[in-house]
Amino acid sequence: MRNVVIAGISGGIGSAFAEWLLEGDEAVQIWGLCRHPEAVRFPATDRKRIHLIPWDALALEPHGLAERLAEHLPADLTIDTVVYAAGILHGEALQPEKRIEDISPGALVHAFQVNAAAFPLLVQALLPWLRHRELKRVVAVSAKVGSISDNHLGGWYAYRASKAALNMLVRNLAIELPRRCRPVACVAVHPGTTRTRLSAPFEQSLTQLNVHDPADTAGNLIRVAQSLSDQDNGRFINWDGKDLPW
Ligand SMILES: NC(=O)c1ccc[n+]([C@@H]2O[C@H](COP(=O)([O-])OP(=O)(O)OC[C@H]3O[C@@H](n4cnc5c(N)ncnc54)[C@H](OP(=O)(O)O)[C@@H]3O)[C@@H](O)[C@H]2O)c1
Repeated sequence: MRNVVIAGISGGIGSAFAEWLLEGDEAVQIWGLCRHPEAVRFPATDRKRIHLIPWDALALEPHGLAERLAEHLPADLTIDTVVYAAGILHGEALQPEKRIEDISPGALVHAFQVNAAAFPLLVQALLPWLRHRELKRVVAVSAKVGSISDNHLGGWYAYRASKAALNMLVRNLAIELPRRCRPVACVAVHPGTTRTRLSAPFEQSLTQLNVHDPADTAGNLIRVAQSLSDQDNGRFINWDGKDLPW
């Protein structure tokens, strides 16, 4: 992985992914998308290798995004890895629903925009940099709770449904991308429960689970990403490399 785009680089998993890559390879260059680039901190030594681009997943203007990317990405750049690590589970107007009465239209739309819709729009805007002959990895950080067949508990309507939508978008892209920019592996990955802002409100219930630190999760995801070939295109993969049910 040499030229990597990370959407959600300000998050626990996105930033750990970037740090892991920067430490592991002096030649790696990262283009990180986030809402507040000024608030993202990386060591001064890495600044030449990390390029931050303002981006809000709620502003769904694909043409505006393509133009902004063109301002930052050299026209002859070949992107080999795209990681979509933006996501939302809770926020001001969004709390994981426990029952039908908790469902709100605003929360549903918000979750779908950030967790699902902005992902294919980013891939659409990045297409000019994905048309080359080397393997491209397009990795959407999904969640096991987005599995339809594995849903035995219910609840978390907006989050579960938006991650299921993300998974469908991965499958659709996995069908079209090989026609447009072979060889490619477009996959959904479950990062494993990880200690980040997203999981913080659930700390107490997490005590029974195997919870990873962001650095461990980044290492696991990078191992999965590095092992990908075009034969893996369209898979839903757990952090340990095993298949997950859709
Ligand atoms: N942590 C877990 O246990 C766990 C488990 C399964 C799946 N995941 C998935 O892993 C991914 C990363 O989550 P995380 O744990 O690293 O959580 P996090 O630390 O809360 O990071 C979430 C990221 O999403 C970004 N984001 C949220 N709303 C956005 C918007 N409107 N526009 C642009 N970016 C936006 C955040 O940006 P700001 O910094 O600007 O808020 C941040 O970069 C998510 O897709 C999550 O669903 C996490």
